[in-house]
Amino acid sequence: MRLLQDFNFKNKTVLVRVDFNVPIEKGKVLDNSRIKAAIPTINYLVKKNAKVLLLSHLGQPKGNRVQKLSLVPVSQELSNLLKKPVKQLKDCVSPFIVAQIESMKSGEIVLLENVRFYKEEEKNDTLFAKKLASLADMYVNDAFSVCHRKHASVAQLPKLMPSCAGLQLQKEIEELKKVLNPKKPFVVLLGGAKVSDKLALIENLAKRTDKLLIGGAMIFPFLKLKGLNVGKSKLEKESLEPAEELVKIFSNKLVLPTDVVVAEDLSEKAQTKAVKIEEIPEKWFGVDLGPETIKDFEKILSQAATIFWNGPVGLFEIEKFAKGTKEIAKFLANHNGFVVIGGGETLSAVSNYKDKYGHVSMGGGACLDFLSGKELPGIKALE
Ligand code: 3PG
Repeated sequence: MRLLQDFNFKNKTVLVRVDFNVPIEKGKVLDNSRIKAAIPTINYLVKKNAKVLLLSHLGQPKGNRVQKLSLVPVSQELSNLLKKPVKQLKDCVSPFIVAQIESMKSGEIVLLENVRFYKEEEKNDTLFAKKLASLADMYVNDAFSVCHRKHASVAQLPKLMPSCAGLQLQKEIEELKKVLNPKKPFVVLLGGAKVSDKLALIENLAKRTDKLLIGGAMIFPFLKLKGLNVGKSKLEKESLEPAEELVKIFSNKLVLPTDVVVAEDLSEKAQTKAVKIEEIPEKWFGVDLGPETIKDFEKILSQAATIFWNGPVGLFEIEKFAKGTKEIAKFLANHNGFVVIGGGETLSAVSNYKDKYGHVSMGGGACLDFLSGKELPGIKALE
């Protein structure tokens, strides 16, 4: 795969696929991690006197022009971060856009409008990809988190023009490869809701993993299989079979909680208590790891040389049930081993300590697919 240093970008128009799919509320970016992640590549290209044409999706407008999914707040945020103007265009492909790009000077930065406003993007349409390719001389992919999508701007553009990986994509690949080739002991901590979503990942890591710790709502199918009562806890029926499979594959490497925090309802004011997993009350919800389990997990994690963590270990969106996730996030922030955080929901759970880990992946689905050993269309196209 070619890298930035393999090209001369002077006076070239460079189309950079970034992932600016960030949470926005009332026109303000709530978490700018993904925007910050693209800055090294943008700065590199500006320094090399390229004309930088940024292309991103935001949300899932399904081919419609949805005003609240416009990238306008993102260009403002990027401009604040870079301390230089970022021109926001209101389209991706049109004669107006072509004229705007032709008038760009070297070192200037422009952000095109949400590429998913065009249904052709998700349909991986070749004609659309050709129109995008005609806007620039070269293509850089710096959007690891969308590389698992077979979309026009990800999977087709690299085949239509000279192309390479940006610095963020290069870093993601290098760091995640270390998880596939871990220094031992290697401990994996998985949370979140569905075992079925993570089955491929777990199977691929099985041979390399010394311990697999399970938290979040993922624990309930395992408890059910043990014949335990899970009360009103979130139990994904389709996770029972995969859970059974994992018990077979991992046997004594699999570590389940010994206690959980349960709540009478799912509100901030709910009454809560910690109980043994064998004693979850009929009408209560399991919402977080119990204190004994947090200690046990930390003990196991403290002995690891490599750790991969994906998925909150409790219902952390509700502050009252976020204690376990926050404690683990803090504990791992002070860990001496190589700690990798898988993106998606986990990213917001660890936001206070982001700079303290070995690597924080910007990708949710893409990170899981990469570590599952699947081929990512965006990466394959660059190769
Ligand atoms: C993400 O948020 O994981 C990426 O931006 C991909 O978004 P998508 O799941 O809407 O394709």
